[in-house]
Amino acid sequence: MTSNTALPGQPHIAYAGDQLHVEGAALSQLAREHGTPLFVYSKAAMLAALAAYQRGFAGRQAQICYAMKANSSLAILQVFAEAGCGFDIVSGGELARVLAAGGDPAKVIFSGVGKTRAEMKQALQVGIGCFNVESEAELDVLSEVAMGLGKQAPVSLRVNPNVDPKTHPYISTGLKGNKFGIAHEEALRAYRHAASLPGLKVVGIDCHIGSQITDSTPYLDAMDRVLDLVAEVESAGIPIHHIDFGGGLGINYNGDTPPEADALWAQLLTKLDARGYGQRQLMIEPGRSLVGNAGVCLTEVLYLKPGEQKNFCIVDAAMNDLPRPAMYQAFHQIVPVTPRPGDGVVYDVVGPVCESGDWIGHDRQMQVAAGDVLAVLSAGAYCMSMASNYNTRGRAAEILVDGTKAHLIRQRESAFDTFALEQLV
Ligand code: LLP
Repeated sequence: MTSNTALPGQPHIAYAGDQLHVEGAALSQLAREHGTPLFVYSKAAMLAALAAYQRGFAGRQAQICYAMKANSSLAILQVFAEAGCGFDIVSGGELARVLAAGGDPAKVIFSGVGKTRAEMKQALQVGIGCFNVESEAELDVLSEVAMGLGKQAPVSLRVNPNVDPKTHPYISTGLKGNKFGIAHEEALRAYRHAASLPGLKVVGIDCHIGSQITDSTPYLDAMDRVLDLVAEVESAGIPIHHIDFGGGLGINYNGDTPPEADALWAQLLTKLDARGYGQRQLMIEPGRSLVGNAGVCLTEVLYLKPGEQKNFCIVDAAMNDLPRPAMYQAFHQIVPVTPRPGDGVVYDVVGPVCESGDWIGHDRQMQVAAGDVLAVLSAGAYCMSMASNYNTRGRAAEILVDGTKAHLIRQRESAFDTFALEQLV
């Protein structure tokens, strides 16, 4: 890397004077000050990713609901709440986080196949915007819970458009064999049922076909399927106020070339206009594309371990901090924070957890020495929010960079924190 080189697809993460920076903050300095593993996020990168969606929706009635499962740290939620976003939540815990971060409950939509009665009650009491319901059985329970509170629950039905998003099987959600959504063929019946229940008020329709989608075709196909249903449901006398197209837009991990959010939405809006739905209230639920490339995870090289078949670079971050490689064979680029001259050696980058599945990168050519700090890229989404305490490892600290200011937004968990709720008998 030469000096002042931004990393591909990540303009806010750049080498300057041979030091990797997130905005104006040198990462080697942050690692020294706060230790590793350490997540570092760029506020400007998040706002730039959001701005691409906002440009795409200019002149439309649209609500962006950040799918906070991607990264639910309070200060990250605060950034999006202050920028006018709503939130797509999947648990009562996520709702509590939204409220703690100052988010507007009226802009919250509640997704997920298994909402409990307690979660429904909590959400109704704070007045969330909409429940995205995934089964007829859930409609019945929600109506009952709402009536018990003397309320009507605003509902949208998540329909399953049976479109292949062409992504990893664990993160495709809109195919017939998935547990998600209501089958296209059953949707009208489910809408009639919803409209007949006294505790519900039908307000919308939604779909979500998968994650890390890098092509616009599955979106266009899903939109056609959803609009067909809107026509069918409305001609049965049930008005659909909003249309929610879910999230799923991919990011560049390893030369991936997803469309930019504004370009994707230009295409989708053309179709929406052509079919006469362009002036409807629109909603989307992006997660990864808002935060994924805004964050890195810093990790220190502990040991280099040459082997007969493989060389191992053992680092202090592990599958409990960065679960995506172990879970989905996902690729994250790994770069030095302070590059050294030389061609390097090919390593498997692995963590200290006692599992062969604990790897962060396979076959990476790197010039490194023990004590060096590496940055695992594209670590803003589905890393910290999926982190665990496996092997009694405290979860990492997190920093939010805003210009030259680096805010500690989460302290490192101590071993004591990891067992603070336990007791001896
Ligand atoms: N809406 C719903 C209903 C969802 O299920 C999801 C993600 C989203 C929105 C946001 O999708 P995004 O824009 O982030 O693709 N842990 C996996 C990803 C799981 C995604 C689950 N649902 C990973 O690390 O790749």
